Amino acid sequence: MELVFATHNTHKAQEVGAMLPEGYILKSLADISFHQDIPETENTLEGNALLKAQAVFDACQLPSFADDTGLFISGLNGAPGVLSARYAGSPADSVANMQKVLTELGSAKREAYFRTVIALVTVEGVHYFSGEIAGKILHEPRGAGGFGYDPIFMPEGYDRSFAELPSEVKNKISHRALAFKSLIAFLSNL
Ligand code: IMP
Repeated sequence: MELVFATHNTHKAQEVGAMLPEGYILKSLADISFHQDIPETENTLEGNALLKAQAVFDACQLPSFADDTGLFISGLNGAPGVLSARYAGSPADSVANMQKVLTELGSAKREAYFRTVIALVTVEGVHYFSGEIAGKILHEPRGAGGFGYDPIFMPEGYDRSFAELPSEVKNKISHRALAFKSLIAFLSNL
């Protein structure tokens, strides 16, 4: 069965393509000649994931899925949340985003979690899958790996930030890995 991953991020697409069960062929947006940008205008991860998956499904009529992720920090009442990519403004800048979080957080509660939601749109309707990882926000960035907020996020049960952990470890335990695992379990049982 052909499936489309509604992302322009080729790295993400390759990673997910390698995880799909036998019988599935993953198409990229380039494969279906979809070149538009889909603005994330909803105020929930579910809403934005659906927006992207639905736009692609409408364009090609193939089962399509999209993901959306946010970092939710208790001391900031859940911010940056759905606005994680551009918390410090456009264009997206990870260093500025982390700096803004650290400045705003001060001595407030540092518990946080990453959450990924995937929306899958097929002729039968919409299915959602999600994954979360809890942790805390460090007082300063640590490590050079990963991307986004990785240097300031330390997952529960570890003494290193996401940016200090080997990518193989992060990619097993992360919010995104857990969400994709449940999408794949669903597809395997179809
Ligand atoms: P997206 O929905 O995957 O594009 O993620 C939105 C934003 O959340 C990204 O631009 C990053 O700032 C942040 N983010 C998502 N996943 C991660 C992660 O695994 N580590 C650190 N930051 C992330």
